Amino acid sequence: MNAFKDAWRAKIAEALSSVAAESGLAAVPLESIVAETPPKPELGDLGFPMFPFAKLLRKGPPLIAQAVAARLASDPETARLGSAAAEGPYVNVRIAKGAFASDVLAAAADPDSTFGRPGSLSGKRIMVEFSSPNTNKPLHLGHLRNDVLGESISRILAACGAEVQKVCIINDRGVHICKSMLAYAKFGEGKTPESEGVKSDRFVGDWYVRFHQWSKEDPTAEAQAQELLRKWEAGDAETTDLWKRMNGWAVSGMKKTYERTGVSFDTYYFESQTYLKGKDEVYKGLEKGVFYKEEDGSVWIDLTDEGLDKKVLLRKDGTALYMTQDIGTAIYRHRDWPFDRLVYVVGSEQQYHFKVLFRVLEKLGFEWAPALYHLSYGMVNLPEGKMKSREGTVVDADDLIDKLRDLALEEIREKGREEAVGDPQAIAERVALGALHYYLLQVSSAKDMLFDPKESLSFNGNTGPYLQYMGARISSMLAKAAGSAAASGVVRPELLVSEAEWELVKTISAYSAAVAEAASRMDPSALTAYLYELSKAFSRFYHDCPILNAPDADLAATRLALSTATLRALKDALSLACIPFLETM
Ligand code: ARG
Repeated sequence: MNAFKDAWRAKIAEALSSVAAESGLAAVPLESIVAETPPKPELGDLGFPMFPFAKLLRKGPPLIAQAVAARLASDPETARLGSAAAEGPYVNVRIAKGAFASDVLAAAADPDSTFGRPGSLSGKRIMVEFSSPNTNKPLHLGHLRNDVLGESISRILAACGAEVQKVCIINDRGVHICKSMLAYAKFGEGKTPESEGVKSDRFVGDWYVRFHQWSKEDPTAEAQAQELLRKWEAGDAETTDLWKRMNGWAVSGMKKTYERTGVSFDTYYFESQTYLKGKDEVYKGLEKGVFYKEEDGSVWIDLTDEGLDKKVLLRKDGTALYMTQDIGTAIYRHRDWPFDRLVYVVGSEQQYHFKVLFRVLEKLGFEWAPALYHLSYGMVNLPEGKMKSREGTVVDADDLIDKLRDLALEEIREKGREEAVGDPQAIAERVALGALHYYLLQVSSAKDMLFDPKESLSFNGNTGPYLQYMGARISSMLAKAAGSAAASGVVRPELLVSEAEWELVKTISAYSAAVAEAASRMDPSALTAYLYELSKAFSRFYHDCPILNAPDADLAATRLALSTATLRALKDALSLACIPFLETM
């Protein structure tokens, strides 16, 4: 649509300028020409309001519209672009369907074209932090939302031309980490994930649960955990060994889940390697008078003037806090990979934390502090009563995906599709990920949501599997086409004139704009909304227009080309939304 929109804007500017010249007035600049979408499709594809030019041209908008339309009608070049008519104060434009469709099909067929690659962020360096787990618990449902948001946003930004660096911070130190270590040291009897046949991050998480059981019986448990943290900070060899061992298990288990869900990172940061830098900076800020010391020795920042609060940056015993490490982490990140923007994908309950963090860095004088951005997202829960985990509150990511996969597998068996799909387990896994990711992305990130496993898997409706099914259907049709009449037809885009065909052409042409919008709003739900529009436009076309059985070979070939273009947009958008594409299902 854009090339045609721009060409029409230029034509309108030209015509207005010629009207102006007639009265000896200055030319009308291109920037002042705005294209709207007419309220009803009968009125045309684009509408240009003439109100803004009334003063300049000293004429009423309807008169201007008529003068512009008359000039366009006598311009032989405009015929290639379509036709224009005055309608009250508007110049309404009908785009030349054949020429437009021909451009859209050509762009979608050319692997080197800018189709879906708007370039709106070219030259920008954007770092995206997401997932960022703690090493005392396996990934849970909340991480699945975080992970797909972060991965998808990163892919969308890259599609817009940005250079993207995906990073993760593993929070691997602190008293909570010491709790699982302590429980293991006390009750572990040298067991390992291998000896117990348990996924290694789950194994570590189970000791964290065990700590809490034990702390109910033994009132000294908390103090013992604090003592262990002190030993860890002092570099005690035995403690460090245990810590390394358990963190190794936690992290390698999590990496398996990332691999399973298609998530990856360019760099992992570890809190244990950044918190000392944070402490350093806090001491520097104290010297500069940016922070102050309480009588008990703790270090604070006072942000009450700015409507924030007082916030502690170092404890009275000098140990670091969550905030302390984030100061060091941000500084190291900018040193390692100077960015134009750093996006933190973190839950909305940490909004206050990030406000303070950004102000602290600004006050410390880091000129890049304004480049920091918190992409906050809401909570995700399961409908009451379904799939409670061992503690009854959170659901492990792996368990949830297993459950979705089993449901998808059941469906494949019920439909008797086991043979047709080849490897039912693998297909079911991909369907599960498609269901999960689409469902999670479709709600705009700021909102809280419920994840309904059954609904996410439904094959009829606005779901991931429905879109995967659409892709499989187009793929099998294209495979069949090779031996059909369509193979001998000639693609003639001017044949795509019915309402359903034209709507589909326009929807495909809107793909790049949808990607750009998702990037500028930093919200993949703009992309899933596009996927839904595309699926609706395609179903209507598929229902209304016979493809392989079209009345003649050229029409069959042209409709097939339109299906191929649909598939290009679909495949690309699915990959930006982390939804696996399936050839068969
Ligand atoms: N690990 C933290 C948590 O589970 C989230 C880390 C978010 N990122 C950050 N840079 N603070 O709450």
